[in-house]
Amino acid sequence: MSVRHFLTLMDLSSDEYRQLIYRAIELKEMQHRGELFQPLKGKVLAMVFEKSSTRTRISFEAGMAQFGGHALFLSPRDTQLGRGEPLEDSARVMSSMVDGIMIRTFGHDVVERFAAASSVSVINGLTDRFHPCQLLADMQAYFEQRGDIQGKTVTWVGDGNNMCHSYINAARLLDFKLRIACPAGYDPEPEIMAAAGDRVEIIRDPMAAATDSDLLVTDVWASMGQEEEQKKRERAFADFQVNEAMMQQANNDALFMHCLPAHRGEEVSAAVMDGEQSVVWQEAENRLHAQKALLELLLAT
Ligand code: CP
Ligand code: NVA
Repeated sequence: MSVRHFLTLMDLSSDEYRQLIYRAIELKEMQHRGELFQPLKGKVLAMVFEKSSTRTRISFEAGMAQFGGHALFLSPRDTQLGRGEPLEDSARVMSSMVDGIMIRTFGHDVVERFAAASSVSVINGLTDRFHPCQLLADMQAYFEQRGDIQGKTVTWVGDGNNMCHSYINAARLLDFKLRIACPAGYDPEPEIMAAAGDRVEIIRDPMAAATDSDLLVTDVWASMGQEEEQKKRERAFADFQVNEAMMQQANNDALFMHCLPAHRGEEVSAAVMDGEQSVVWQEAENRLHAQKALLELLLAT
């Protein structure tokens, strides 16, 4: 039996992505009504975190509990993974005992190797290349506020990082235009760009890239694992702050998103982050509902 994994958004079809978004909206309403819905009774999700997390850990753990299942938090410090047990051996053993495995790690190859050796679904909870779970939540937030994103224009401002790569994949699947405003030297990977064709373009000037856009998105300048580059990156990204002047370039009803954690005064001004066009708190809450829709798809059989 072939096992279904979620390592990048490209593991979904366009239809499945939209269905997940609509299901997440439904699950959110059920949760807000206090309705008990437990399709994962007796199921266990192992969660391997090699990097820090607030949202990803809490949303998966709370989601499994609400669904009647259970989640295990595993850090490399406390497991044999941290002492050099081969990934493949760990995946084989873990997957013989649980129903799904979520991993947050550095190299994307780690989740790929883990998935290849696992007999249960593996979910990417963030790697250096991709953060697909965040794009389920972000797109849910857009659909909730503005309806379908097909044909809209989205502007990514900042680093061509894991979040940017996942926005490129979302543009492919949901058919929106993506402008990427990043300083030279911080471009997204060319192969990921190329696969998206002319839906995605790099525009160096962030003010030009923001013009008439429907959604402005940014992320930290130094991602986890790049802490020692913080100062160098602050210089490189100095002109790439999403502030009120940049928001004014966008359409009047444009939204602002950030996966969080955010640094007010760096990649986003406090006025934009806490302003009326910001939907960052909806995005964060949607991690719970969107991943419940994902868990239902992968684990509730
Ligand atoms: N956005 C996000 O993934 O947050 P955490 O790092 O807190 O999980
Ligand atoms: N690009 C950021 C996202 C954090 C959720 C990082 O990888 O640290």
